[in-house]
Amino acid sequence: MYLTKEEEKMLNGEYGPAVEKSMRLLVKLGEIYGAEKMIEISSAQIAGISYKNIGDPGVEFLEGFLEEGAKVRVLAFMNPAGMDLESWKELGIPEEFAEKQMRIINALKRMGVYAAATCTPYLAGLLPRYGEHIAWSESSAVIFANSVIGARTNREGGPSALAAAITGRTPMHGFHLNENRTPEVTIVVESQIKTSYEFGILAHAICKKFKKGVPYITGINPVHANIERLKLFGATLAAYGAFSLFHMEGVTPENVEAPKEKIHIEPSDLNESKEEMGEKLDSVDLVVIGCPHASLDEIKRILKVLNGRKMKVPMLVFTSRSVRVVAKRTNLISELEKLNIKVLADTCPVVMPLEYLNVKRVATDSGKAIYYLPNTNNVKVLFDSLERLVERFGE
Ligand code: F3S
Repeated sequence: MYLTKEEEKMLNGEYGPAVEKSMRLLVKLGEIYGAEKMIEISSAQIAGISYKNIGDPGVEFLEGFLEEGAKVRVLAFMNPAGMDLESWKELGIPEEFAEKQMRIINALKRMGVYAAATCTPYLAGLLPRYGEHIAWSESSAVIFANSVIGARTNREGGPSALAAAITGRTPMHGFHLNENRTPEVTIVVESQIKTSYEFGILAHAICKKFKKGVPYITGINPVHANIERLKLFGATLAAYGAFSLFHMEGVTPENVEAPKEKIHIEPSDLNESKEEMGEKLDSVDLVVIGCPHASLDEIKRILKVLNGRKMKVPMLVFTSRSVRVVAKRTNLISELEKLNIKVLADTCPVVMPLEYLNVKRVATDSGKAIYYLPNTNNVKVLFDSLERLVERFGE
């Protein structure tokens, strides 16, 4: 693999052990994937920062890495952590968990990583530009950045994203290359897809018929493909399938041709997916919204849908800290709290230890959450639209 003089110096330890280890990891990955060289990146998003996921070995690794001089060279920010970094106590997160979680956050902060702690950095001011090379790791953020923004990233693991942040480089392979961004099949959607719920179901239906690659989706009226729906659509696509990039006619920015091979998504496919997504539950302990992290508009929409009704079952809404700050200033948070709804920042339903909340059955509008929650948090999950969740679990 070709390395520049600067990259050689990194690899030879001239910038200290943390840079050397990072470059070693990236070179190894580059060799595995057949990369010819490194590419400079403009930002890195680092996942795998919840204490629930990485435990004590993760804390020790990050603190040790910091001692070895780990310092980021490019804009770098964190994916959600295992708790709301400000209101963890009132949620019942134990002191011991919180202490370890804060050690992870502090080690990363001292490396220069911003504690944005969100999977929707693009809604929190951390927005790459079209064509920019980046190294992001959370799957819904990756597919959004590649598809909707037209930035270029592979689906990095936590360690490779951190190594990319420390060296400012990533191996040039996969979605960094034009040839891998070409769509392979045209997905013809034969139904009108309008709502977030329908976009989630469509993603599931696509994954059943086309397992991996780059789809080119036609038949969507661009008027309905807003940021929030594309965010939910991409997250579900990346959860149920090995997707990190899609093109959508009239919606996504890359100028690509529709492939000749076609797969049709009929109304019956959507009905089938609707039946298969989640479980049939009569009652739940918690309603979860904001996977991926909610936008300000989505938070406002919850109030609109509730229209003054209170939730009988508590609702948690997950968002980024920056969106929460604006929502608070706009009095949305206090309005929601009156209706039995809490808005959490910095964390997510999948990487947060729901066991401390005594939750066994969850309802959500997120296709990604229903995919992961049964495994990560050992809960049963019901999938439905926000409107119907309010209808069923509101007063
Ligand atoms: Fe984001 Fe967590 Fe969902 S990282 S996409 S809220 S699983």
